[in-house]
Amino acid sequence: MHQTSSLLSRISGPASEAWAVGDLAFERMRAGQDIIHLGVGDPDLDTPANIRASLVQALNEGKTHYSPLAGEPELREEIASHACALYGGEITPEQVVVCSGAQGALFSVFMCIAGDGDEIIVLEPSYATYPAVVQAGGATAVPVVLDQSNGYQLDIEKITAAINNKTRAILVNSPGNPSGAVFDEIALCELARLCADRGIWLVSDEVYWSFCYDCDHASPYELEAMRDSVIVVNSLSKSHAMTGWRVGWAIAPEKIAVALTNLAQPQYFGINQFVQQAAITALRDTASSNEIHNIFKARRDTLVNTLRTSSTLSFSAPQGGMFLLIDVSKTGLEGRAFAEQLLDVERVAVVPGFGFGSSMKNTIRVGFLCEEKRLAEAAKRIIRFADGLAGV
Ligand SMILES: Cc1ncc(COP(=O)(O)O)c(C=O)c1O
Repeated sequence: MHQTSSLLSRISGPASEAWAVGDLAFERMRAGQDIIHLGVGDPDLDTPANIRASLVQALNEGKTHYSPLAGEPELREEIASHACALYGGEITPEQVVVCSGAQGALFSVFMCIAGDGDEIIVLEPSYATYPAVVQAGGATAVPVVLDQSNGYQLDIEKITAAINNKTRAILVNSPGNPSGAVFDEIALCELARLCADRGIWLVSDEVYWSFCYDCDHASPYELEAMRDSVIVVNSLSKSHAMTGWRVGWAIAPEKIAVALTNLAQPQYFGINQFVQQAAITALRDTASSNEIHNIFKARRDTLVNTLRTSSTLSFSAPQGGMFLLIDVSKTGLEGRAFAEQLLDVERVAVVPGFGFGSSMKNTIRVGFLCEEKRLAEAAKRIIRFADGLAGV
């Protein structure tokens, strides 16, 4: 009998099943059904033309070779200066490692900072890949549930209570997927101080950095004195509609940057040169990220304003990101049954919330992932379905 690694059980779980409704929807769309698919966190927009042109130019210039393991020096410099503009202070290219998307960065970071017997605090609702990413290296994910009535903001007291001598890191994500919460700057600073005092890493996933609608983006990395404890993970996937390009980065103290670089050798041996060239163009292109931000803000408003007319659906309006998390308890269904039946009856695909943590089984995640008219139509169908179940 051929044996497999114990890793396999650590990377499977509810999250891998959460996409079943979305997959079924794609199958039905291929068979010709007209479905409004709001399930996958992939902007429906094309990557801006100037960024695509930059990749073609890089290919034509022969940028088709192995790249340095930590990334092309020009891109690391560009990321460092982009980060300086975002967070202030001094950030050197040596602190930057280019990775295969923010997802690749998260995986590598947790491999480098936590292992067997260690605990990582993960805030619920949490992005569906977090348990696997944390557990792949042997650590355990310890959930701390945030409160919907408080807009899923940080709860420092609850987080502090979850810390023990096995805690290696706290993973935060703001703007949040799926909550849409943008964490309060003061609370983030308090958390950074707590981590510094206790010798715990604060890993900050900021892939929705350019999608803050009602307030400015805040990051624990803004506190220069705490930077020895903070690791930022980021990418261009959302800000510049570049999900398929797989380019992201980690910004970390140099010893972690070196560890990430060493890990890149056996893992993937560097990121595509031509993609990195285009990433430099993207980082300089604030016009595109502003335009994409404005499109998503308008969509957020349309979705929230329409859904607010239902008394059956309960949610806190997202301050950022591209998702809205809705509690569907009043319909009498859990999120999974709601999502399955919504697809059958109303032809709208959403994600059931159980993949975002066990406390989220009564929720669904709706992405603002299509143009406004269709989004408003989807919202009306969701209300019709939910109100019908609740007998309103
Ligand atoms: C919170 C969060 N982190 C990380 C990722 C992965 O992003 P990337 O495409 O840069 O790997 C996503 C993608 O949806 C996400 O929502």
